[in-house]
This record gives sequence, structure tokens and C-alpha cells, in this order.
Amino acid sequence: MCGIVAAAARREVSEILLEGLRRLEYRGYDSAGMALIDQEHGLRIHKRKGKVAELEKAQREQPYHGTTGIAHTRWATHGEPSGVNAHPHISGRRVALVHNGIIENHATLRAELVEEGYEITSATDTEVIVHLLHRSLAIGGSLLQAMQQTVAKLEGAYALAAIDTQNPDTVVGARKGSPLVVGVGIGENFLASDTMALRQVTDRFIYLEEADLVCITPASVQVYSADGREAKRPIARIEEGLEAADMGDFEHYMIKEIFEQPEALEATFAGAINAQKIEERFGPAAPALFDQVKKVQIVACGTSFHAGMVARYWLEEIAGVSCVVEVASEFRYRKRVQHAGTLLVVISQSGETADTLAALRNASADEFIGSLVVSNVDNSSLVRECDLVFLTRAGIEIGVASTKAFTTQLVALLMLTLALGRRRELPDSRQQDIITALQDLPQCVRQTLELNEAIRLLSEAFIPKRHALFLGRGIQYPIAMEGALKLKEISYIHAEAYPAGELKHGPLALVDHDMPVVAVAPNDELLGKLKSNLEEVRSRGGELFVFADKEAGFANEPRVQILPMPHCPEVIRPIVYTVALQLLSYHVALQKGTDVDKPRNLAKSVTVE
Ligand code: G6P
Repeated sequence: MCGIVAAAARREVSEILLEGLRRLEYRGYDSAGMALIDQEHGLRIHKRKGKVAELEKAQREQPYHGTTGIAHTRWATHGEPSGVNAHPHISGRRVALVHNGIIENHATLRAELVEEGYEITSATDTEVIVHLLHRSLAIGGSLLQAMQQTVAKLEGAYALAAIDTQNPDTVVGARKGSPLVVGVGIGENFLASDTMALRQVTDRFIYLEEADLVCITPASVQVYSADGREAKRPIARIEEGLEAADMGDFEHYMIKEIFEQPEALEATFAGAINAQKIEERFGPAAPALFDQVKKVQIVACGTSFHAGMVARYWLEEIAGVSCVVEVASEFRYRKRVQHAGTLLVVISQSGETADTLAALRNASADEFIGSLVVSNVDNSSLVRECDLVFLTRAGIEIGVASTKAFTTQLVALLMLTLALGRRRELPDSRQQDIITALQDLPQCVRQTLELNEAIRLLSEAFIPKRHALFLGRGIQYPIAMEGALKLKEISYIHAEAYPAGELKHGPLALVDHDMPVVAVAPNDELLGKLKSNLEEVRSRGGELFVFADKEAGFANEPRVQILPMPHCPEVIRPIVYTVALQLLSYHVALQKGTDVDKPRNLAKSVTVE
């Protein structure tokens, strides 16, 4: 989704801004732009449709220089991806602005501004903001005051950064509903959508709070809270982020991240290997809150929603805790009835997903006894706003299609299951079995990664296909959903997942020799039933690809290819099978030549509704 980088320095900043944009590319975008205030106090702007590389080319061909500037990658919401709609937007050749978010009352503001004689040149919701800024500046006052007056008129979500040729060493920012951090340097300061963008210039950051405004110059950072008073915000030092942008020997971030899973999983449960310590991982208030839990409501989006669906099976079967799971965009707008003693669990890799954040914010204290977030990003909005926090230790994930973030979320949720189970008399022997299974997990994943070449060969059959079906039963059904999502996200093959028992209720009509069917086969009591479902596919000419435990008794047959999976404890199988399906999608996409790490139209961090 849109990315912002801004700088107020004593040195030339164009290269810092461009490097910042390159480091934000992983968020997903379709155009890019940069504005600098030059030595003569004029605005210099490059905007290009497409990749940051196009913007770099423009800067090479016509270099602009300045020590104050703003830059942006845009993921189109209002108005097609184009040079005109790309940010920065300008007003009166004086003010330039970049924006992440959506302004809901832009049509009313636009009409007002047109009436006053402003000419709107783009189809964006953003352009009205820069004219409002200009209008305030024109009647006197500082850029900060103009920003204060402007945000008071905005409805919706925003992170903003603006520059003014008459305040040439200042950048002013604001945030509400979309993230913005301050990078603190020596004799220079910065703003960005996330810390990754600025790790090449600083390791000290201020995380702005909801409705904060900020004013940076080379020598100062001043933060103001919603009531207009100057606010003190702590400076955090972060270590992560420098090395993450390095792909090492891998061809894509996605495959690098798939192969990082054994270590990421281990790091996520490390230090909590006995049951008591597991509870500590959720924070000091966890034991008291866990004692009151009668039901769990999970809310998340995308891949994180699939993690929630897996957790439902664990929580009900192992911990005996009732659980419901819902996508955040539905949950947030629905009239709800909750049972007493319900814990709200939000799952979000980024901790910034707009719908998940809104779901948390509109969940009332009457509905829930408390909130818990499972996130991969410390200091993210969800982490700051939840009562309990479990931080996964996946490390930064750059590929848009989530891999190691998903499997580490599953580890976190299995640990939640253990923690809640213990408070409901889960037998010690069962607790120990789960802990042993978690300890086996990195090795089982390593054995699955050894199947990389076998999965690559199997993937060739998918290249000419336009559709695919994924089947699973029980806890492997959400894994089939995640497998289908991965395939459609990065290879653009239309893929759907069904619980295998639903096959006869519709999807069987689609099965013919052109429809590959991927089955995630458990090795449990449901195996016999799944085998019957698979026969139904085969007898209709369908081609089957079965990911099955090597001890499950499947054999290759005409139109049935088996991928023998390592034998591993039942409870961790959803995690292990996910890895195989990630490899399948990766190889299909690789051979189709799609942009694996930045699939078209998608964004890593969905900070607008
Ligand atoms: C986007 C990403 C997905 C992710 C989803 C939820 O759609 O492309 O990979 O699963 O957002 O993101 P979150 O950060 O809340 O887990």
C-alpha cells in the first residue's frame, strides 16, 4: 500500500528518498513520485507510473537537488495509476503533499475548493488536502498551523507529509488511521510509513500516536497531540531492518523467507519451552486474563485469517475453549452478540491492517474481557493498543505473499492453545506432547524444504492451467484455503479451496482433465473419507496432486501424483503442509514469470479500508 518517505536535512536528500522508496516497494504500489525544494526555493517534482526504477530514471535524466523533500509510492484507490494521479500533489506551486489513506469527504471538500477557484487536476481524494493547506497558508501562519486547520476538516484515514517553499527547511506530517514514524538523525530528521524505509540513515525512531502532528527540521522534531499541545514521545532504538533488504543467494524474497522458516519457528517458541513460560510470552497480565476466558473471538484478514481458522480447531479440540473466527472487514460493521468471558484475538503480521485495527477499536469493553494481538511488528498500532501481545519472531517479511509470518502465527496460536488448555486442566502428558511436537517442528520443516525439487517438478503441470481446486478436511481445510490463496496471489491462476466433503455439493461439476485438484491429506481418522472424495475426482477425469504423509498409504496411479510428506506429529502437520504448498505456488509463479515478490494489484500492508 502507499509508502511515504520525507527528509529535512543539511545534505542532498534525493538519493535518501529514492532508497527509502526502494525499501518500501515491498508494500505494493503502482506509481511513484518525489518533490524537492531546490536552492532557489522552488518545487522540483518527478512523478512516474510504474516502478521506482522509472522515477530513478527520470531523476538520472533530469537531476533535481534539495535538502528538504517528500516522496511516495502510490497504490491506487481513487483514480487510475498514472503520472497525474501519482503523489506528490501540489497547490499554487508552493505546497507539495503525499498521503497514505482515504479521505471519505473528498467530494464535499472538492466542491468547496472548486467554488473558491481552485483547479483540481487529478482524480485522487488526496489533491483536496494540498489545496486546503494552501488555502490556510495563504491567509498567514506556519505550515504546522495550516496542517492543524486542514486535518480538522478531513474525514477518513491519513498519514501525510507536506513541504512549503516558504518554510524551506521544514516537513510537517500527521497521522490518523495510517502509520507514520519519525526517523531521528544527527542534523537531519525524517518521516516514513515504516522504519524499514529509513534504516539506512538511522536506527532511532519515534512512533507517532493516533492523531499526532509532527514538525521536523534538520535540527528539531516536535510532536503535537490531537489537542494541539506539544507531546513527548519516546525514541526507540531498533536493530532489525538493515539486512532484511538483502536477498542473499536467493532469487526472490519469497523463497528466501520460505527457507528461513525453521529458524523463524524456533525463535518464536524459544525461551518458552516449558508450559509456565509459555504464558509469560503473552505478557504479565496474561495468566489473570486467561483464567476468565470462556470463549475466543478471532478477527483478522487474508492469510492471518487462515491462521485464525486453524487456531479454532486447536482451541476447541485441545483446550476445550469455544472459538469463532471472522474476517475483520465483516466483523467491524456487524451488530454482534458476544458471550460473557470472550477474549478478542486479533492476528496481523504488520499490526497495521486498517480493517483489523478498526475491528479492535470498535470492540467495546462490554463485549470482551480483553484483547490479545499476535503480530510480527513491535510498536505497530495493534501492538500498542491491545491488552496482551504475542510477538512472532519471523523477522521482517518482504514478499507480499505471507509465508514465514503465517507459520510463526500458527506457532503463537498453538502456544495460546496450550496456555488456555493449562487453565482448563489439559493433562500434563498432552501438554508435553505438544511441546515435544513444537520442538520437532523445525526439523520437520527442514525435511519438507528438501522436497523443493520434487515440488518444482510437480508444479510444471500447473503452468498451462487457468483454474485449480484445493481440498482438505478438518484442520487441513484452512491449510487448503491458504494454499489456494498463495497460488492465486502470485501465479494469477484462479484457485479455490473446499472442505473435501463439500465436493459433491457443487465443485465436482467443474472437475475435468483441465482442472488440477490439490489435496492436503491428513493421516488421521478423516483419511478414509478423504480417499473416497479423491476417487470421486479421479473417476471424473480430474488430475490429482496429493500431499500426503509418506505413511498414509497413497501410491502414484494414472492421474494421481503423490508428494510424500515427512511423517511428523499430528498437531504440527498444518504448519508443515503449508510449507509444501508455499513451494508449489512459488514454482508455478516462477515458471509463469510473474512478479513473485510484488504481485500485481496487491499490497503487503493494507492500511486503507
Ligand atoms: C495483505 C497481505 C497479506 C496479509 C493481509 C493481512 O493482503 O498481502 O499477505 O495476509 O494483508 O495482513 P496482516 O498484516 O494484517 O497480517
